[in-house]
Amino acid sequence: MPPPSPVAPPESPAPDGSDPRCVPHKLTAPLPVGDACGYPRYSAEEHDVWRTLYARMADLLPGRAADEFLTGLTALGLDHEKIPALAAVSRQLHRATGWQIARTPGLLDAHDFFGHLARRIFPCTDYIRSRGELDYTPAPDCFHDIFGHTPMIMHPRFADFYQKIGQAALACRDPQVEEGLTRIYWFTVEFGLVKNPGGLRIFGNGIISSSGETRHSLTAKAEKRPFVPEQAAQQPYDIWHFQDVLWVVDSFDQLEAEFVRWAKGHGLL
Ligand SMILES: [Fe+2]
Repeated sequence: MPPPSPVAPPESPAPDGSDPRCVPHKLTAPLPVGDACGYPRYSAEEHDVWRTLYARMADLLPGRAADEFLTGLTALGLDHEKIPALAAVSRQLHRATGWQIARTPGLLDAHDFFGHLARRIFPCTDYIRSRGELDYTPAPDCFHDIFGHTPMIMHPRFADFYQKIGQAALACRDPQVEEGLTRIYWFTVEFGLVKNPGGLRIFGNGIISSSGETRHSLTAKAEKRPFVPEQAAQQPYDIWHFQDVLWVVDSFDQLEAEFVRWAKGHGLL
């Protein structure tokens, strides 16, 4: 059950499945972790794609992204102009929450992906989409993974919750519970909202990765429900359309506590 990692704006056509980036990798050797992640020779064009994506999101996120996301982004101090080195981002994460980054060649097989999360290692790509794919890529790239996912892993409670998702997934044997876990992942890590002092804010990267979904998610067109894992686990999702229903956590303490309660109820933690 690889959790789909939305990187395309909703209402996009589904990829035809022929793109090798969409084929999950089953690992046959350990991934390089932390300082073992090399820095590719990026072209000036690839750095410019990063710069363009960063500038667009920097304009859109204030007042929409969660305080915790923006705090993590600031603490990471990502280069706006050049694609960051995974090793450097990994060192920042490690100092903040004990997480590290592993360089993945692309989408990972679910067991391999969750096995890394369970050890506080985030599998991260180091290639970037082409300029023709600014609004659409069929699979995660380093802008989605670094800009979109790592800021929340800088937050101690979210970091603990994310590890527990990995641990629970590894312990899961029942396909129905597994489907519920995938939906909980979807409606939190990728599509979660949180109450901030300033109002409702986004922390899910599936929203943050899409300017259309970012605007849509905070309007009345998306129904908001208080986060209850049992309910999120029952809610089917459609990765090709804007989400009709989103779940709102009171805090990341509540997110972790509720997830642990649900996972323990299913014997996963
Ligand atoms: Fe993702």
